[in-house]
Amino acid sequence: MELTQAKQFEIAEVQQWDRWYRANFINSIAGFRAACLVGTVNTQCIPNLSVFSQIVHLGADPALVGLINRPRVATPHTLKNIEESGSFTLQHIPKTLLHKAHQTSAKYADDVSEFSAVGLTPFYIPGIVAPFVKECSIAWAAQLVEIVPITHNNTFLIIGKIQTLLAPETCIQADGFVDISQAESVASVGLDAYYEANLIERIPYAKP
Ligand SMILES: Cc1cc2nc3c(=O)[nH]c(=O)nc-3n(C[C@H](O)[C@H](O)[C@H](O)COP(=O)(O)O)c2cc1C
Repeated sequence: MELTQAKQFEIAEVQQWDRWYRANFINSIAGFRAACLVGTVNTQCIPNLSVFSQIVHLGADPALVGLINRPRVATPHTLKNIEESGSFTLQHIPKTLLHKAHQTSAKYADDVSEFSAVGLTPFYIPGIVAPFVKECSIAWAAQLVEIVPITHNNTFLIIGKIQTLLAPETCIQADGFVDISQAESVASVGLDAYYEANLIERIPYAKP
């Protein structure tokens, strides 16, 4: 089917829709994203874990990663912990951990660790304050460099400098490409749909 056959919706019409229907529509049309678990720790040393899908690769040299954090009232703990500790980890979610990973999006109290609540194990690496998730196989850690408030909708772009990366050698190809699908890492759409990803092909660098 081509765009000429697609139904067109003006934003003024979309804004009249039921809130949940509208959110599903706008969130899902944004497309496939990496679903990752973000590990942080608070000042009482309680580890925190949240599923995030708004993750942006900002560059390879320097290696920078960005997270979009919702308004503070909606997703308070990850933002606060990163502000206070300057550290966070990211891990791809293997298919086998999908339900536990999704459960971390529940609004647990500040003194409850999502690790214990959902049954995952914090794992620490010397020199990195934030916890990793032992059950995951691909992860990386970043040190906070900047938090950019997006005043238009009260969200935040959290920018971190990548410090360390972990991946099974079986997923790393000869030229350095990490085939995250080998670790059964899932992709997500919107806030409740998860997909399996399969490599179609790798296409050489395009030239005019
Ligand atoms: C699939 C999925 C993706 C999500 N992505 C994000 C995201 O990118 N940014 C965000 O702030 N919240 C995101 N959330 C919501 C957080 O997981 C949720 O608000 C969580 O309770 C935050 O916990 P915290 O207060 O411990 O940080 C997502 C939820 C789901 C289910």
